[in-house]
Amino acid sequence: MKTEIKTKKTKGGLMAWIDERFPLSSLITNHLTEYYAPKNFNFWYFFGALALLTLVLQLITGLLLTMHYKPDAELAFGSVEYIMRDVSFGWLIRYMHSTGASLFFVVIYLHMFKALIYGSYKNPRELLWLFGVAIFLCLMGEAFFGYLLPWGQMSYWGAQVIVNLFSAIPFVGPDLSEWLRGDYLVSDATLNRFFAFHVIALPLALCGLVFLHLVALHEVGSNNPDGIEIKKSLDKKTNIPLDGIPFHPYYTVKDLIGVSVFLIVFALIVFYLPEMGGYFLEANNFIPADPLKTPAHIAPVWYFTPYYSILRAVPPVLNSQFPGVAAMGLSVLAFAFLPWLDRSKVKSIRYKGNLFKRWIALFVVSFFVLGYLGTVPSNVWGQFSNAIPLIGGVDKATVVARIFTMTYFLFFALMPYYSKKDKTKPVPSRVSYK
Ligand code: HEM
Repeated sequence: MKTEIKTKKTKGGLMAWIDERFPLSSLITNHLTEYYAPKNFNFWYFFGALALLTLVLQLITGLLLTMHYKPDAELAFGSVEYIMRDVSFGWLIRYMHSTGASLFFVVIYLHMFKALIYGSYKNPRELLWLFGVAIFLCLMGEAFFGYLLPWGQMSYWGAQVIVNLFSAIPFVGPDLSEWLRGDYLVSDATLNRFFAFHVIALPLALCGLVFLHLVALHEVGSNNPDGIEIKKSLDKKTNIPLDGIPFHPYYTVKDLIGVSVFLIVFALIVFYLPEMGGYFLEANNFIPADPLKTPAHIAPVWYFTPYYSILRAVPPVLNSQFPGVAAMGLSVLAFAFLPWLDRSKVKSIRYKGNLFKRWIALFVVSFFVLGYLGTVPSNVWGQFSNAIPLIGGVDKATVVARIFTMTYFLFFALMPYYSKKDKTKPVPSRVSYK
């Protein structure tokens, strides 16, 4: 059911002047003061607003960093050191940006998890979800391109490894990776184009997609922890959802609590733990890039490690890395198919049966185990084989990664089956709210 668009005009003054030229009052009415959101939002509903906040923080700190950063292979590393030591509050801006990148992923993973447990990707929110998946892909690209910019050892070799992966794609691969690099190996040309992608192309795409995401959200309305469509129970006189409350002031105030807690955690990390023991900023990246010296341990930043583990777990076929690369790509793209894989009659986990609950628990465990294994350097995976007996000629870490890669994919692949077979509970017609 479509929400009625109200065109509200104020009588006089500045607002009236603006309203005659731009629909400001009606935008505020339709999207804030008379936008009705379900009254039972819980903890998980903080993360959409926090994702917006993190996006804005990254844009502002990124803009300030760009004012002093030099996208030149000879100067990049030094310009970052200059920012850290000589630019007024440069250290703060840089740590805010690097911490913001990691927290952005924390927030997005929790935001996506909320959608998973409450079935927010299901009809009528498929497009909202697909815009979300596109945002997620862009965000991964944004983080990957940004990571090359400090031109440290890990920036350089991380980019080398990932761009080389593209050459495993049959037929077009080698040309594609050369085209991405702009050279035969990661070089000044690569740094320049990654800079362009990081500061212009992807931020623009991200902002555009977030706008579309929110337009889609306001068209269909928010889901909620009960997975009940509040637009189905309207007040007969006012046509307002009986279980809805105006977004402003109720949720603007509630979100302020989430924002405050987030900013406290953010400040604690920025001021006391900016490197987060090597998880947010790796030690190797404080060494300038050296194309002649490969670091002993190359591992991506924590938010990429589950997919990196999947890449390493899948064995090469006929000496080609392509199966691993394809599995890694599919592990991210699989999210896009959820609206059509989930055949359950109900949306929320509250009314789903044990089958779904067990599979989602297995999925979360796989994600964490793969994430952990991805942080362990591959030569250490090899060392497991010295310490621990091999299983069928393969070291234990690889066997564990393979088992959890299978569970990760089975969560998606078997969903049409177990979501249909699952014993669901009856869904009430109105949301539960204590
Ligand atoms: C920059 C990144 C993003 C921003 C700023 C953003 C913003 C928002 C906001 C403000 C909401 C409404 C509040 C809420 O439900 O928490 C929302 C809802 C939603 N978002 Fe995002 N989002 C982002 C990324 C994503 C991603 C990556 C996905 C999934 C792949 C996603 C899927 C959804 C879904 C399904 C909803 C509806 C949730 C519900 O109604 O239960 N979003 N988003």
